[in-house]
Amino acid sequence: MKKLDIEVKLKESAAEFERHFEKYFLHDDEDIKRVTDAMRYSAMAGGKRIRPFIVNEFCKLFGGKTDASMPLACALECVHTYSLIHDDLPCMDNDDLRRGKPTCHKAYGEEFALLAGDALLTYAFEIIADAKLLSDKVKIEAVRLISTLAGVCGMVGGQTIDLESEGKHIGMEKLMKLHSLKTGALMRCAALLGAVAADAGEAERKAADDYASKIGLAFQIADDILDVTADESELGKPIGSDAQNKKVTFLTFMNINEAREYAQRSAVLAKDAIKSYDGSDALLVLADYIVNRNK
Ligand code: IPE
Ligand code: IPE
Ligand code: MG
Ligand code: MG
Ligand code: MG
Repeated sequence: MKKLDIEVKLKESAAEFERHFEKYFLHDDEDIKRVTDAMRYSAMAGGKRIRPFIVNEFCKLFGGKTDASMPLACALECVHTYSLIHDDLPCMDNDDLRRGKPTCHKAYGEEFALLAGDALLTYAFEIIADAKLLSDKVKIEAVRLISTLAGVCGMVGGQTIDLESEGKHIGMEKLMKLHSLKTGALMRCAALLGAVAADAGEAERKAADDYASKIGLAFQIADDILDVTADESELGKPIGSDAQNKKVTFLTFMNINEAREYAQRSAVLAKDAIKSYDGSDALLVLADYIVNRNK
């Protein structure tokens, strides 16, 4: 599979995912419309839908059906979307553009962006609890994964280090921790949710986890590079946000080519973790795509 093919495959899988995802955003209570509109606005604004792709691909890779993994993919995309809404707030990265549209707080006001983020996070657990095709065991494992990996020792912890590092000199070790928590944790969550949906064994779960930690790092390095090199209309979010906020990123430590090489090495390690499994082609190509993407 080539880069072009993975782009087509990602688009098709995003469209299929959105057919399921949009059904969760049909609230019709006029009294809470401001927040349900804000939730739908950000959730359905597009986005690459890479985490849902990873959830469903790992489920298939380990012999499961996407009927089982799809609600977990929807739950995780709610959590990811919440993290973006809060990440863009004036008290965080203070960005005005997301997924090619005004950020949630620009469109609905800060208070409703805050609430839409809160609501998307809790909605994830409601979606899992209500999933008809999942056993209680799978539901508990999924809740455990999301709460741990999105929580204080996962994504929220990463965001904490990110904010506290602004304008400071931190070492490479701390930067790796920052990236592996703020971005790697939800990537691991995606791969592990797929494995859980397929009721995969320990070895499979470890392979999924290893792959996702490595692509998580590669993904955030690419994000740091794109913040400098991308075209804003293609990226759908502002360029130069990291410099403006005095963020510590990979480009604080190395130049763009070195950072890209670092990300490429991480992608190779990701591929090594899963290449022995039949049917891993799309995930193997995804690892390279993540490093070389334009958006
Ligand atoms: C952006 O994630 C936040 C990071 C972890 C770098 P994505 O680049 O996956 O954003 P969308 O979902 O495609 O908008
Ligand atoms: C990842 O970092 C953000 C989250 C964990 C939500 P960034 O702040 O670099 O993400 P972007 O560049 O705004 O998407
Ligand atoms: Mg941020
Ligand atoms: Mg940001
Ligand atoms: Mg960024």
